[in-house]
This record gives sequence, structure tokens and C-alpha cells, in this order.
Amino acid sequence: MEVRDCDVKMGRLNIKNVSRIFTKKEDGSRTEALHDISFDVQDGEFICLLGPSGCGKTTLLRIIAGLETMTSGEITLSGVPITGPDPKRGMVFQQYSLFPWRTVIDNVTFGLEMQGIKKDEARRQVEKYLELVGLGQFKNSYPHELSGGMQQRAAIARAFANEPEILLMDEPFGALDAQTRNTLQDELLKIWEQKQVTFLFVTHSVDEAVFLSDRLIVMTSRPGRIKEIVKVELPRPRSRTSPEVNRLRDRVLKLLKEERFSR
Ligand SMILES: Nc1ncnc2c1ncn2[C@@H]1O[C@H](COP(=O)(O)OP(=O)(O)O)[C@@H](O)[C@H]1O
Ligand SMILES: [Mg+2]
Repeated sequence: MEVRDCDVKMGRLNIKNVSRIFTKKEDGSRTEALHDISFDVQDGEFICLLGPSGCGKTTLLRIIAGLETMTSGEITLSGVPITGPDPKRGMVFQQYSLFPWRTVIDNVTFGLEMQGIKKDEARRQVEKYLELVGLGQFKNSYPHELSGGMQQRAAIARAFANEPEILLMDEPFGALDAQTRNTLQDELLKIWEQKQVTFLFVTHSVDEAVFLSDRLIVMTSRPGRIKEIVKVELPRPRSRTSPEVNRLRDRVLKLLKEERFSR
């Protein structure tokens, strides 16, 4: 009998039937934030998550990060169920969330120090990540001495320093001006190509999602369900304005608009 490899490739991240209901302690009132979310993310894939405000994007990311619990469902990373935070799942937030009293390099070494690595050794290990995000010359600066874009670069270097398998990013460029945002998108893609990390990236910008992602997941308004998964089959490096890009942008905008007016 012919023995064949199993054709079904197990995704790196498997999200199965995830729901989350928040119950208020005071009066027992319930808010369903997420309803029956299922999707798989393959190794090295770049996924963008889009959806109306309040549809549960942050909640979903926090559940995957292990910072928040789910009411029902199962999430596994490489087959192992997620039960709490782990350096394998790095997170970058919209707010730069650097420690103001630590220099750039000491912010980036923080995770390694938490793992018990000595400061000198940790500093040596993170040099390459500071170079990767273009902050080599600013490693001894304090966060308040840096622009928003540079602070976010430091946060990205800090996430990479833990050598995560997957990076969870919650509107990381949301607070930046358009020019800086475009530059950071270019740089993030360069790092992604070099490091082959898997990305799950929340954004409210359709342009950003179309520019970055292999697939984009559009969610419904609350309770967040999956409305549609759109494959972005545009070659890289991508234009931001080609007719194909514009067509795809229009299609995704239409999906989001339906949600805005559906309830
Ligand atoms: N800790 C919490 N307690 C109660 N309700 C919450 C909590 N976190 C989020 N929610 C509610 O869940 C819904 C989804 O929130 P969130 O995940 O922040 O949405 P998004 O990031 O898509 O804007 C919102 O209605 C929000 O008020
Ligand atoms: Mg959010």
C-alpha cells in the first residue's frame, strides 16, 4: 500500500469555536464580545484582522496572548493548547508601553532579564534587534527622547528579542502619522521576510491590511464573528495605488460598511 504524507497541513495557530462573554459582577449583565470564532494561521503567514470598533479584536488578541480567558473554545499553537502568557507569543500594543525609566536597550532586554538572563548577556543578545529596527544609535536614549515611530520600533525590537513564533500586534501604528506609518509598514515587511515570523496584526486601516497581509479577516460588529476571510494575492513589493489594490480596498470597505449599517 502506498503511504503518503498527510496533505492537510496543521496550522501554526489553530483557533476553534472561541467565544467570550463578559459578565458584570454588580448586576450580572452580559456582553458577548466574541461569538464562535474559528480560523487557522499557517507558519510564516501575515494575517490582518479588521472589524468595527468594539467587535472584540483586542479581546481575541489578548486571549491568544494568554492575558485573557475565553468562555468556550480552544486555541493551540503548534498543537499545544494556550493556557497563559508565553514568550513564544509576543505582543505589541498601540501605546508604545515602554518603561520611561529604562533606556531603549534596557527596555528591549527586559523580557530576557525576566527569563533570568544576566544584563550584560541580554544586552549583547539584543544588539541585532536594535540594528534590525534601525535604533542602533539610539540604544542609550530614554523613551521621552524619541519620536512615536522610534518608540514603536523599540517596542517591536523588544517583541523580537524574545524570539517569538508569532507576533500579535494590536493597532501598533494607529497613533503614528501617515508618513511614519508607511515607513514602519515597509520595515515590518522586511523583518517579516528575514525572520519568517507569523503575524496576527489588528488594524482599522483597510489600506494597511491590503498592503501587509497574505489574508485579511473581516469581523462583524459585536458580538464579533468572522464575516469573511479575503486572500490577498498581490505580488510583493506591493503598490499602494494599483487598480488591483484599489479594487480589493473597495471590496473590503464595502464589507465593513455593511457592518456599520447592519445594526
Ligand atoms: N474586561 C472587560 N470587561 C467587560 N467588557 C469588556 C472587557 N474587555 C472588553 N470588553 C467589551 O468587549 C467588547 C469588545 O471589546 P474590544 O475587544 O476592546 O473591541 P475592539 O478591540 O474590536 O475595539 C466591547 O463591548 C468591550 O466593551
Ligand atoms: Mg481594540
